[in-house]
Amino acid sequence: WTLFILLVGAREGITPKTTRAEAISREDFPSEFVFGSGSSAYQVEGAAFDDGRAPSVWDTFAHSGRVKDKSNGDIASDQYHKYKEDVKLMVDTGLEAYRFSISWSRLIPNGRGLVNPKGLQYYNNLISELVNHGIQPHVTLFHYDLPQALEDEYQGWLSRKIVEDFTAYADVCFREFGDRVSHWTTLNEPNVLPLGGYDVGVFPPGRCSSPFGSNCTKGNSTVEPYIAAHNILLAHASVARLYKKKYLGKQKGFIGINIFAYFFVPFTNATEDMKATQRANDFYIGWFMYPLMFGDYPEIVKKSAGSRIPSFTPSQSRQVQGSADFFGLNHYNTLYVKDDPDSLNNDQRDVERDMAIKLISKADGVPKGEFPIHPFGMQGVLEYFKQTYDSPPIYIHENGQMTFHNASMNDMSRVKYLEGFIQSLLQALRNGSDVRGYFSWSFLDAFELLDGYQSSFGLYYVDFNSPGLKRYPKLSAHWYSNFLRGRSSSN
Ligand code: NOJ
Repeated sequence: WTLFILLVGAREGITPKTTRAEAISREDFPSEFVFGSGSSAYQVEGAAFDDGRAPSVWDTFAHSGRVKDKSNGDIASDQYHKYKEDVKLMVDTGLEAYRFSISWSRLIPNGRGLVNPKGLQYYNNLISELVNHGIQPHVTLFHYDLPQALEDEYQGWLSRKIVEDFTAYADVCFREFGDRVSHWTTLNEPNVLPLGGYDVGVFPPGRCSSPFGSNCTKGNSTVEPYIAAHNILLAHASVARLYKKKYLGKQKGFIGINIFAYFFVPFTNATEDMKATQRANDFYIGWFMYPLMFGDYPEIVKKSAGSRIPSFTPSQSRQVQGSADFFGLNHYNTLYVKDDPDSLNNDQRDVERDMAIKLISKADGVPKGEFPIHPFGMQGVLEYFKQTYDSPPIYIHENGQMTFHNASMNDMSRVKYLEGFIQSLLQALRNGSDVRGYFSWSFLDAFELLDGYQSSFGLYYVDFNSPGLKRYPKLSAHWYSNFLRGRSSSN
């Protein structure tokens, strides 16, 4: 979670308001609303060298010692070998859906061309195991783990060539799994990748320019985040188009995209801070949402980035606009926004410099290694989407509390977190937000991006030192299970 820390200017001492949730249970939600939990391939699968899988950029990055505890996802939670046991735990918990991602380099090791039969078999097995147990698979095609071969060949997302390869990979997924999968997400957090991968350099491919250049690959952070974002949007649109042209009709699926969404609140009522909050939303969220909804980048983003941001041709704009059937939101925190006109003189990353804002986390009294619990952010973010983007269909794809991995199994702060945020989601639903599902992050303890095995989000504890990587339900697993089974939550 270093990215969160890096992008936030300061932590200030104002106690967050925590509301006591009314007792709620699954029965308060419509029956067609779906509750699940999630994971991503590199974070849980392990089996990094098994059965023909080739490295992704995350393998390379982790193996070069770039993760906090110097660990990697070689074994992770070993879901590759334990998926049957994990599906059983999902059934025991009462999950209605499981969100996971496909490892592109397990399915197509070189990124393009030959399909790996063992990779195909693994995802067929996992999907069928879920479906046979009445659990809906919600599949993400790209969760940060680009095949290393494509990074080596043409610098991955920095090249327009990625559009064709990503589309061909998606084609294989739709063809092979589309009979059982109806919810597809093209990319996870495409709005974080340009910052993490090409500005701050803390995510693979780890590129940035000085002064943050000591531990990153030399890049040009004034333009690369904007180029990567543009190619990501075109790749998403191309996949959505492929699905509509080739599969819709035979299959009844939906193609969405995921967005990492802080809830931003002005630090003061001063006009400057209000405008800064608008800029924060336009950069973090609008950078992707505007093209997807209206066919172009927000004015302020275009103005700040000038000639450094690519322009959409009319045909690209038409393809991107309206290309998502739903939006998956990853929401964890509320941040307070201050105008920061001096940022041009600061040692900041380039996109942050363009934003001219300072982000503040009100985290007084929050134990180290945990998130402040600001449940109102859930309602806030959902209502922001409803108002700004004309009430699009939304799934909450990620939401959950971080703790140290060896913190108590009695994870009361995670229970409080989930209860508060789900309750806040219910308020938004009652106020008319078109929110259709909620996935806690994460089902199992896993390899955490950037932190390795120090931090955990799981409902289930994984004993990474035990030979069989044994799983144990935490208090939060019991809580979620009770909630899903219709037992009142606040007791
Ligand atoms: C968002 C990412 O999608 C996920 O991979 C990560 O583990 C969580 N945030 C928590 O940091």
